[in-house]
Amino acid sequence: MSDTWWRGAAIYQVYPRSFADGDGDGVGDLAGLRERLPYLKDLGINAIWLTPWYPSPMADGGYDVADYRDIEPAIGTLAEAETFIGEAHGLGIRVIIDVVPNHTSTASAWFQEALRDRSKRDRFWFRDEPNDWRSIFGGPAWTQVADGQWYLHLFDPGQPDYNWDNPEVRQEFHDVLRFWFDRGADGIRVDSAALLVKSATAYEDLDGVHDIYRGWRRVADEYDDRILVGEVWLPDQERFARYLRPDELHTAFNFDFLACPWEPAALRASISLTLSTHASVGAPPTWVLSNHDVARVVTRYGRADTSWDHADRRDGVPADLELGRRRARAAALLAMALPGGVYVYQGEELGLPEVDDIPDRLRQDPMWTRSGHTVPGRDGCRVPLPWSGDAPPFGFGPGVGEPWLPQPPEWKELTAEAQAGDPASMLTLYRTALRLRRDRLGDGSLTWLDLRPDVLAFTRDTRVVCVVNLGPDPVRLPPHSAVLLASGPTGDGLLPCDTAVWLEP
Ligand code: GLC
Repeated sequence: MSDTWWRGAAIYQVYPRSFADGDGDGVGDLAGLRERLPYLKDLGINAIWLTPWYPSPMADGGYDVADYRDIEPAIGTLAEAETFIGEAHGLGIRVIIDVVPNHTSTASAWFQEALRDRSKRDRFWFRDEPNDWRSIFGGPAWTQVADGQWYLHLFDPGQPDYNWDNPEVRQEFHDVLRFWFDRGADGIRVDSAALLVKSATAYEDLDGVHDIYRGWRRVADEYDDRILVGEVWLPDQERFARYLRPDELHTAFNFDFLACPWEPAALRASISLTLSTHASVGAPPTWVLSNHDVARVVTRYGRADTSWDHADRRDGVPADLELGRRRARAAALLAMALPGGVYVYQGEELGLPEVDDIPDRLRQDPMWTRSGHTVPGRDGCRVPLPWSGDAPPFGFGPGVGEPWLPQPPEWKELTAEAQAGDPASMLTLYRTALRLRRDRLGDGSLTWLDLRPDVLAFTRDTRVVCVVNLGPDPVRLPPHSAVLLASGPTGDGLLPCDTAVWLEP
């Protein structure tokens, strides 16, 4: 792979606790992931991004990091993480890890020290009086400690925010980046990247944040081929692009595309805007349909309103899963055909739906408790994967302990094993598409073809034509010499509603 592998990579997101359980305690771990590396190799991805694997009290599924230089014991050991990185590299798979710089855990050494010693509080936001900020998970953003002071936590009280004006914090993260680059990590996913710098009145996207990433970029550039990927949720694309200037982050997740409804005009506008804003800074776009924070695609696209909004998650809103599955198949081919990188969240290749009926007593997302049990939150997209067999735990683990979130019995139809040999399955579609994509798609450009307003069609510079029909009536395929892949039937040269096709011109 060239040194710009990341410009067109297909990156598979592993949520370690839910991917595969090697030791049978019901929680996914590195042993399970290592066993399943051949599956990921066969799937045809270029890289893995793992959500946090560090020691953590799990106030927010591991995004409350107690020690950035070690591995959560339930997930594995540091030595095993290094072995895993080596094994992935041996299969030609790069490894991106998650670093959480906005906040730590109340269990971290620095925060514990700050609790004991008031002179050590400048690494955080301790104040005598809180302001009126609300936590992103609900409730106030400040919690009082025993001596009367309050500390800021934009997320859960278990996640105290760092004070990035403090040089020790800046130095610490340079060291953490080097720690993982030295151990072979190919990239860093930067959690909540736009929130780090705070003023007395604001914390989102303040200009000072860019200086931090310029420093990080200098660290990454000390090594070969390492990348920084930003989690930057900003509605303003011009502001978003500033994070991707040549001396800052390499890429960022395209949440505009993720949040876009399944509608032709909106999708075309989102794609065009993405391409132009990224071109303005020379960064490759990414195409993201889902992750561990949003409802599963099959469910989202089966709802009456197919857009996504963090502030209005619509958990439990009924969905037509057959419709959603058809659209999810078409959307996968669209995302994989567009110029740039693509992210696949674990389980999307199996077409898993959102699990809406997790018993309340088993829910673990802090959104559920912080919202006063009004927002079920993100557990429904984090249910452990079904690998094989007819009944839970579906090969997730050796079947000693129950998976940490219960799997629906209907998932017996959706196991990787059940789908592997089925030419019509979601898994086969993903495998075929990712294989074709490796040779023929990825980084580059596109030219729109105007077929009909309710049809998205474009030719890639690599001479692949992608057509997606979002209208009610079948559309005649443009002239072509071969159909490379289709998300549904394309008989008589017609492409039905909610279907996508890749053509050889
Ligand atoms: C990011 C993560 C999310 C987490 C939050 C706080 O948005 O994706 O899962 O809860 O940051 O760290």
